[in-house]
Parts: sequence; structure tokens; C-alpha cells
Amino acid sequence: MRLLSLRLIISLIVGMTLVSIGFSYYEVVREKQALRRELERRAEVLGESVAANVEKSWEEGGSERALQRLVQRFGNREHLLGVAISDRQGKLIAITPELAKVLTGVPREVTQSIVEGHGESSFIRLHDEPVNIFALPLYRDEEIVGGLAVVHDAGYIRAQSLRTWREAFVTVLIQVFLIVSITVLIVRWSIVGPIARAAQWMRALRMGRISSRQQMPDLDLFKPLAWEVVTLTESLSQARIAAENEARLREAGESMWTADRLAVQIRTRLGDGRLYVVSNREPYIHERKGKSIEAVVPPSGLVTALEPVLAACDGTWIAHGSGDADAEVVDSHDRLRVPPRDPRYTLRRLWLTKEEEQGYYYGFANEGLWPLCHIAHARPIFRAHDWRHYQEVNRKFTAAVLEEIKDVEQPVVLVQDYHFALLPRMIKEKRPDARVAIFWHIPWPNPEAFGICPWQRQLVEGLLGADLVGFHTQSHCNNFLQTVDRTLEARVDWEHFSVARQSHRTIIHPFPISVDIPGEAPVESMSLRDEYIKRTSLMHSLGVDTAFVGIGVDRVDYTKGIPERFHAIERFLEKYPKYQGKFTFVQIGAPSRTHIKRYHDLMAEVEAETERINWRFQSGKWKPIVFLKRHHSHDEIDQFYRAADFCLVTSLHDGMNLVAKEFLAARRDERGVLILSQFTGAARELRDALLVNPYDVDQTAEAIRIALEMEPEEKQLRVRNMRRQIREHNIYRWAGNLITELCELRLDSADRGEPKPRTSVTAA
Ligand code: G6P
Repeated sequence: MRLLSLRLIISLIVGMTLVSIGFSYYEVVREKQALRRELERRAEVLGESVAANVEKSWEEGGSERALQRLVQRFGNREHLLGVAISDRQGKLIAITPELAKVLTGVPREVTQSIVEGHGESSFIRLHDEPVNIFALPLYRDEEIVGGLAVVHDAGYIRAQSLRTWREAFVTVLIQVFLIVSITVLIVRWSIVGPIARAAQWMRALRMGRISSRQQMPDLDLFKPLAWEVVTLTESLSQARIAAENEARLREAGESMWTADRLAVQIRTRLGDGRLYVVSNREPYIHERKGKSIEAVVPPSGLVTALEPVLAACDGTWIAHGSGDADAEVVDSHDRLRVPPRDPRYTLRRLWLTKEEEQGYYYGFANEGLWPLCHIAHARPIFRAHDWRHYQEVNRKFTAAVLEEIKDVEQPVVLVQDYHFALLPRMIKEKRPDARVAIFWHIPWPNPEAFGICPWQRQLVEGLLGADLVGFHTQSHCNNFLQTVDRTLEARVDWEHFSVARQSHRTIIHPFPISVDIPGEAPVESMSLRDEYIKRTSLMHSLGVDTAFVGIGVDRVDYTKGIPERFHAIERFLEKYPKYQGKFTFVQIGAPSRTHIKRYHDLMAEVEAETERINWRFQSGKWKPIVFLKRHHSHDEIDQFYRAADFCLVTSLHDGMNLVAKEFLAARRDERGVLILSQFTGAARELRDALLVNPYDVDQTAEAIRIALEMEPEEKQLRVRNMRRQIREHNIYRWAGNLITELCELRLDSADRGEPKPRTSVTAA
């Protein structure tokens, strides 16, 4: 750094000096020219005045002596060396005494002016001294009869130039000194300082002493660079965790799934093929915020789960572009690379009209299929025009998929969720060589419940177009097979969990979805006191003073049991009044599908219940419920997960529920308790949670008390067990198993596009 500064200073001094000398030289030359012009002008005025007097004297018949007197009269002006007069033949006839000492003959300029008949001026040297000679022809009766020379001493011009050079030199010295000093100070403040801070911060990042973007110091000009460093460090730290995991796994002989293993697995299985994911919800929504555009990650378990899969194998994700600035950031093929900070895969956006969105998404998918599949006592609504839009949009997505896979042999397509029940069949009809799976992220109800859908046959047929249909749990698979059995002519193979229909076979298997849980990273050893301080300050930021905190994170959806949860909190405070003033529940509620009346009403109900319960119990700076009604980023939610004494999941019915798993993934400290509805898919795996029936308000209230009073050792044991379960069944295993199974399936000959063997016809 020191050497660098020295080089910088020397370059600055040399550069500045050269530039200043250049400017000074230009100034001196300009000044010299101005002085010369001034002298010539003065000589001219004087010359004309002398000439007029000489000519007048000649007209009056003046003698040579009179001429001599006349020139002497003019001889004592400033810088004037003298005046001389010659006749036409070049003989000096009058000259001032001082000039006579240095001028021996008639100057060339005089002779020239007599010949050419006009004034002549030039700078020459007389006895090595610089002079200016101005010559004029002299007239009598309009005839040139002689010449006049006005000679000025020009030495003062040189002296003046030298003086200017000297002054410029001093100015250059002062300027260079000042500018170099100021530059060095600026460099120290705005470059060396931030660089030193950045180096310190990067060292801390590298050594893993700090991890988050929020701890970035103020790096001034280097902020964009710092963001790149953060991304790089995150990638490095992920690589380090992956390598540590691999080493640990090799050591333990375990077979754990990691992002790297998934990437290798997908590349091996896919060969030259590629992975395509289709879902309604996109992983990044671009929205206009004032003059800038922001990428928002939507609240969706599906998005949380699939992002690491796509990133691991650089696939293509096809989804509905729903953000108001989505169209502004895509290329001419409606594609862009994401995640925005660290692009790892392609997002292909597809545009829907308002009518399509209304009919297919709000109508058929969310007012029909969603309540149909969730037993949450909301009546499904089926409208014929919604169904029409549902079919049209499924066709539109099929066209987009076919376009994306057109030059790809044996592509692997993972269709997501209840928005696209018809897609598998539509894709396979055009591309039988594609391997197509659909994963149904929500529950599948029993055949009686599903049977109320007027288009159940078409939906089931559409799904059976897939080679593989996945659900979260075995019971959802069972319900689906029973529904197939009752709806269609098909051969259901209960032994292998498959359905054979019109020479096509579909496998139906459970794949419990999960999250990416960071490897066996060291447990953050925060003391109970520090934990208390952190939680207190987080709650103060919400304007609440409390000792214990519970957390709930959901889209505001009637299947999540939010009012039931609030009633349990109310009951808990009634039953255990010692917690009044000491326990607060933070509910993060992301508004969802708010155009649907049922959701709109639910939001009003949740707000009203929050207000009612708070009004009943609150005192001073304490209240029992904080309802944060907005979408929160993962980082924001993580803070609450880590600060909470427990997380409360009370879904009335849920395919899996990833909030439960995300909460555990965030608890690297192995503290905190999970209270989990028995009606979630997650409850089948997370047996160390406090399982509750969310309809049983007393039971949930009791679980809250148990969670708050549980011994730290027991909490640790439970969290450790559940984290191990999630780590062993993480999102990479989900994707790995799903894709492996899909790729290992033997496609029927018809599916592979091969001709079917001819059946021989024997004549009777
Ligand atoms: C559930 C569904 C997802 C959906 C998410 C959010 O998890 O299974 O497909 O993306 O809810 O709902 P939204 O309607 O906002 O996409």
C-alpha cells in the first residue's frame, strides 16, 4: 500500500508539473506577443508623427541642422533608442546621438520601405541587443525622397518574459504541492479508508466470523464491489459447507443429499436432456417501486422448495409473469436469468389476460380445486367459464413447454400443482419421448369429496398423462388411486402403485417435500442473556415489551387456521394469567389471493380478532398479538424464527407445510419448540413436535404452556431429532428421488415414438 501511495504521489507530481509548465509556456508566449504588438504600435504612432514633422520642415525648406534638432526633440521617449533620417540614396542625414553610437549605416528596413513605399517593422539584434526598427518612407511633393527609422530597445520584453517565467515557476510549485496534498488526503479518506475497512470485513467474512449482508460496513465507492464479494463469499461458503458435508458423509458412510450431489445426479440421469419445471407462481416477481424495479420472492412453499433444485442443475422454469414490471426485464423470448444477484437458471415467463387469470387462477384453481382438496369446510365453487379458462391456460402453458423443449431430446418436465392437472396429458400427446411428472403440492381428498367436481374425469385423465404423479404422503396417493378406480376404466395396480390405461402406465408415489437445511454448521453459541437481549430489541422495534415470544408465518389463507390459533392464544392467557404482560405472539401474515371474497373476508376477520383479543388483555407497552400484515423476506422471517420461544402451525389441512421445516432449519442453536397441527403432511415426519388438533382450542392452549415451560434439554433433544430428520430428507433428496424415479421408468414403446409390434391376424 505504501509503495502504491509513493507511485501515486510521484505520478501526480510529474503529471501536474508537466501540465502546469505547458500552461505557463503558453502564457509567456502570449504575453511576449502582446508586448511586441504594443511596441510596434507605439513605434508606428511615433514614426508617423516624426515623418509628418520632417516633411513639413522640408516643405518649408528646412536645413539639415533643423532636421537634426527635430529628431533630437523626439529622442527621449520610453524604451526609444533613437530616430534616424536618410536620403533616398541611403545616406544618413540626421540621427539622435544615442542611436548614432550603435547604428553605423542605414538599416535594411529603411531601404526596403523607400523601395516599397510603405512602413516596415522588424525585431532584430543590434550589437547583440534586441531592438525593434520601424521604418517609413518620407515624401516631398508626393515623391519619396528619403526614409525614417524609429529604433526601440526591445530588451525589456525579454526581461518581462523571464519575470513571468519565474512567477509561473513559483505558482507551479505551490499548485503542485497543494493539489498533491489534497489528492493524497482524498485518497486516504475515500479509498484507502474504505479499502482497509473492506479488507477487514472480507477477512471476517472469509473466516466465517460474520455471515450476513447486513453487517456490511459503509464502503462508499466500493459498495457495488462489496455486493459482488458478498455473493462470491456466499457461493464459497456454500461450497465449503458442501465440501464439509461430503467429507463428513464419506466419513460416516451416510448417503446424504446435497445440492452438489443433486447436480451430479441430474446430469448423470439426464445425459444430454434438460430439466424443465412448470408452475403457476414464478420464483421472482418484478415490481415497480417508484422509479426502480425490484425483484420480490413470493410467499409460496413451492417456490421455496424448487429454487435450490433449479439452481443445482441450471434448468428452465416456466411460469406466469404476474409482476407489473415483469415484461420490462425479459429478453425477446420472454426469458431472463435468475436469481438476480447470482444467475443460475432460466425463468421463462408466460403472459395471461385478466380474464384468463380470473377464470383459471382465481376461479377454477383457487375457488374450485383448492377448497375441494383441503378439508377446511370452505365450499368449492365450480363455474363452466372458469373451467374453460382453466383448459385454455393449460393449453397455453403446453405450447410454451413444447416451444422450450423443441430441440431437446428426451427432456424431463416437472409440472407443479393443481393449476396444471391437464398439462401432463397435453404434453405427452405431442412429445411422447418427454418424461413428464406432476407433483401435487396440496392434499388429495377421498373419492367422495373429489367426486363433487363436475370435471373430475377430465382432471384425472389429464394427470394420468404423466409418467409419474407425486404427492406428499402415502395417504394422498391412496386417495388418488381410489379416485381413479371410481372414475375411469383403468387397471389400478395396488402392489406397485401404478395405473395402466390405453398402453400408458403412470406410477403414483409419495415424495415428502422439504427445505434446504444448512449442513452441520457449528451451533451458534449465544448465551441465554444475549438471546434475551436480541429478542427484547426485536420486540421493541415492534413497539412491544415482552419476555416470551411465539411466531406464526402464513399466507392469510383459511386453510391455515389463523383465527383458531388466536383463539388458542386467548384461551392460554385466560387459563394462565401469569403470562399476561409477558407473552406476545407475532403473526406474519402475507396477503394472498385477496380478489377472492373468502380471502378478503378472512383478512378482515383476522384483523378484527387481533384487535378484539388485544383490547381485552393489553396493558402499557404490552399486547398479546402483533399482526404483521405484509409480505416479509426470508431474512426478515429468519430473525423472528430465531428469536421465538416456539413456532405455531395450526393448518386445518395442509399438503406438507414448509413453515414448520423452515423454522427448524433456522434454529441452528437447537432451541425453540414446534407446535404443529396433526393435519399437516409435516406431522407425519416431525414426530418430536408438539402435535395438536387446531380445532381443539384447549389442547393448543395447553401446548403453548408446555412449549414455554419445557426444559432446555428436552427442547434441544426434540429440535436436534427433527433437524436430523429434515437434513436426511431435505429438498435435494425430494428432487433427487423424484427425478431418479422418473428417469428410471421404462417408457412404453408408444411413448418412445417407436412403431408398435404388428398383431398377426390368422384366417379363421
Ligand atoms: C400453495 C400452493 C402453491 C402456491 C402457494 C401460494 O403452497 O401449493 O402452488 O404457489 O400456495 O399461493 P399463490 O396462489 O399465491 O401462488
